[in-house]
Amino acid sequence: MALPFVAVRLILVSVFLFIVSLENSDVVCAQTMRLTEETDKQALLEFKSQLSETSRAVLDSWNNTLPLCRWTGVKCGAKHKRVTGLNLGGLKLTGIVSSFVGNLSFLRSLNLSSNYFRGAIPLEVGNLSRLRYLNMSDNLLGGAIPVVLSNCSSLSILDLSRNDLEQGVPSELGKFPALFGNLTSLKKLDFYDNQMEGEIPGSIARLKQMYFFRIAVNKFTGVFPLPIYNLSSLTTLSIVGNSFSGTLRPDFGSLLPNLQILYMDINNFTGTIPETLSNISTLTHLDISTNHLTGNIPSSFGKLRNLLWLSLFKNSLGNYSSDGLDFLGALANCTQLQHLDVGINNLGGQLPVSIANLSTQLTELSLDENLISGSIPHGIRNLINLQILDLNGNLLTGKLPPSLGDLSELRKIYLYSNGLSGEIPSSLGNITRLILLYLHKNSFEGSIPSSLGNCRDLLHLYLHNNKLNGSIPHEIMEIPSLVILSVAFNSLVGPLGEDVGKLIFLTGLYVGYNKLSGPIPRTLANCLSLEFLGLQGNSFVGPIPDVRGLTGLRFLDLSKNNLSGPIPEYMVKFSKLEYLNLSMNNFEGAVPTEGIFRNTSAMSIIGNINLCGGIASLRLLPCSIETSRKHSSVRKIVVICVSAGIAALLLLFLSLVFLCRYKQRMKSIRVISQ
Ligand SMILES: *[C@@H]1O[C@H](CO)[C@@H](O)[C@H](O)[C@H]1NC(C)=O
Ligand SMILES: *[C@@H]1O[C@H](CO)[C@@H](O)[C@H](O)[C@H]1NC(C)=O
Ligand SMILES: *[C@@H]1O[C@H](CO)[C@@H](O)[C@H](O)[C@H]1NC(C)=O
Ligand SMILES: *[C@@H]1O[C@H](CO)[C@@H](O)[C@H](O)[C@H]1NC(C)=O
Ligand SMILES: *[C@@H]1O[C@H](CO)[C@@H](O)[C@H](O)[C@H]1NC(C)=O
Ligand SMILES: *[C@@H]1O[C@H](CO)[C@@H](O)[C@H](O)[C@H]1NC(C)=O
Ligand SMILES: *[C@@H]1O[C@H](CO)[C@@H](O)[C@H](O)[C@H]1NC(C)=O
Ligand SMILES: *[C@@H]1O[C@H](CO)[C@@H](O)[C@H](O)[C@H]1NC(C)=O
Ligand SMILES: *[C@@H]1O[C@H](CO)[C@@H](O)[C@H](O)[C@H]1NC(C)=O
Ligand SMILES: *[C@@H]1O[C@H](CO)[C@@H](O)[C@H](O)[C@H]1NC(C)=O
Ligand SMILES: *[C@@H]1O[C@H](CO)[C@@H](O)[C@H](O)[C@H]1NC(C)=O
Ligand SMILES: *[C@@H]1O[C@H](CO)[C@@H](O)[C@H](O)[C@H]1NC(C)=O
Repeated sequence: MALPFVAVRLILVSVFLFIVSLENSDVVCAQTMRLTEETDKQALLEFKSQLSETSRAVLDSWNNTLPLCRWTGVKCGAKHKRVTGLNLGGLKLTGIVSSFVGNLSFLRSLNLSSNYFRGAIPLEVGNLSRLRYLNMSDNLLGGAIPVVLSNCSSLSILDLSRNDLEQGVPSELGKFPALFGNLTSLKKLDFYDNQMEGEIPGSIARLKQMYFFRIAVNKFTGVFPLPIYNLSSLTTLSIVGNSFSGTLRPDFGSLLPNLQILYMDINNFTGTIPETLSNISTLTHLDISTNHLTGNIPSSFGKLRNLLWLSLFKNSLGNYSSDGLDFLGALANCTQLQHLDVGINNLGGQLPVSIANLSTQLTELSLDENLISGSIPHGIRNLINLQILDLNGNLLTGKLPPSLGDLSELRKIYLYSNGLSGEIPSSLGNITRLILLYLHKNSFEGSIPSSLGNCRDLLHLYLHNNKLNGSIPHEIMEIPSLVILSVAFNSLVGPLGEDVGKLIFLTGLYVGYNKLSGPIPRTLANCLSLEFLGLQGNSFVGPIPDVRGLTGLRFLDLSKNNLSGPIPEYMVKFSKLEYLNLSMNNFEGAVPTEGIFRNTSAMSIIGNINLCGGIASLRLLPCSIETSRKHSSVRKIVVICVSAGIAALLLLFLSLVFLCRYKQRMKSIRVISQ
């Protein structure tokens, strides 16, 4: 009996133990599940605790009452409920990136961009082996890129642009993090605008999937990084604003045949432009401006049918020879071209009429600061979308074609410093959106077209150093937006109209060295923004009007006129004044002794024989105190006489009134009594 009992007990106990163990294993399973979810939660709460108080308020939903997967910016896997995405981009969070982020072991996407995270990228990020997308752009992160990132073998997109990241710890891995060679899934790498230096390591040549590579605005040096030539999938390459030097390989275009965007400006490249660039039929944007390139601009660029942007300014392209502009004709086949800038080079020869055949999509045409001769062709009117025309600093001659006025989209015209002549076409007044018109330093003659008054948005009108005559049309004074009007060094006549006072935004008015006459208009006092006023070298007469309100004046030149009267005392209060020239006039009376009048190197009053006083170093005669005292006593006598006269007249008047009233009353008394 005892044995079977024991056996039953044993069986019962073992069943019990089995059940218990089953339960236990269940508990263990559940616990591991809970633990891992719990780890994510813990990691995020730790992450939050490293943020500023206001930032924590933004992540208010990160609390125990709300399920983890519904927290702001958190994305979970559908089955396992682990955190797979953390998107906190643009929330303006302040703080450091907690190392606990490395515990989010299921994370595929981490977006902390456009925040104020500072400090270093935590090494623990290297534990995120599932990470594909990492965006920490636009923060204040410093230090080096952690080597352990190379463990994130799934990483496809890495954006660390706009931070203060520096080179890797030199002793550890050399200058540039060599680790990237192991991240063969990498497609997009953006280190734009950091402080990285050194050379690009050969290991990146293995990143065959890379289509976007941007290391612009850093401090990289050396030749064009050779491993980049291996990245044949590249569609965007930007190495702008580093210190790369040396030449570009002749087979450049054959090695990188899929490029759409190629930006290499602001470096120190030398040698010629590789002709093979014309083989990259996908190319839309090409910018190699601000380097030291030589040779001609390839005419084969005409093959680039998708080209929108071609910028090669500030190099040494062309040899001042006539074939240097052949490319312009070829570019006619780039029918999408919107932007063409080859200014500041060594281009020479005649401006070809073929520029009229350039794309009608063109919005900017800049050939400035070369030695291009010839005249501007009539056919320029075809470029109907042109907004910027910059031909300044060349050897252009002849007349401006009136058809220029047909380009109604033009905003900025830079034709200064050439040999252009003839009249300024009145048709320019048809370009109503014009904001800058720079025609100075040419040989334009005739009068200023009054039609320019139609350019209601004009900010700068520069016509100085020409041969213009006639008067300044009053229509110019009706341009409400005008900020700078410069017509100095011409042969303009007549007065400076009173309507100049309508130009209330004017900061610079330069009419010096013309033949203007009459008084300085008192309405100038309305131009309260004036900083630069040059009226010198004309025939202005009369006194300086009351312009005491022009306290922003920095430059005032009234020299070489026939101005008279006193020097206004209020000028001592023009505290911004750096230059004052009153010389060669007929000013009289006392020179003030304060303000700018104390600084003889900043002001001049010579050639005014009736001035006196001033500071000692001016060596003028002292102003006679006697005369002024005599004047005041005379004034006193006059005041007394006049007052006495008025009193006498008043007395006479009152007595007359009294007499009249008395007579009337007598009359009425008489009437009543009758
Ligand atoms: C938790 O977050 C929810 C959602 O943002 C919020 O309504 C609630 O007040 C929070 N609870 C605590 C205790 O902060
Ligand atoms: C990351 O956040 C930024 C906003 O800061 C956003 O523009 C970007 O699209 C986000 N990336 C992803 C993959 O969600
Ligand atoms: C998570 O990460 C932190 C810091 O990196 C570490 O101290 C902690 O032990 C990790 N594990 C868990 C389960 O939180
Ligand atoms: C990273 O975030 C920024 C916002 O700061 C966004 O402009 C950029 O496109 C993102 N980069 C990638 C590769 O998604
Ligand atoms: C995470 O990364 C840190 C630092 O790189 C390392 O010490 C730690 O062992 C890693 N943790 C895990 C779980 O891999
Ligand atoms: C990186 O991966 C290697 C090998 O897989 C491993 O030994 C190392 O601990 C990892 N480092 C981190 C920080 O996870
Ligand atoms: C890159 O990978 C190779 C082999 O896969 C390994 O030997 C090397 O240590 C890795 N380099 C880095 C920097 O992780
Ligand atoms: C890079 O290209 C060169 C030839 O230009 C070749 O010799 C080298 O093996 C390539 N490197 C890689 C990693 O593909
Ligand atoms: C280019 O080289 C010149 C010397 O030839 C040097 O002064 C300059 O700093 C360099 N510029 C850049 C951007 O590397
Ligand atoms: C590339 O361009 C050069 C010069 O423009 C030309 O001679 C060559 O045939 C082109 N190669 C290919 C593959 O198109
Ligand atoms: C422009 O294209 C046409 C037709 O494809 C071709 O015949 C002509 O030679 C090209 N012109 C230039 C200047 O490249
Ligand atoms: C353009 O200007 C000229 C001369 O000022 C004028 O005769 C003509 O009517 C204007 N054309 C248009 C379309 O405004």
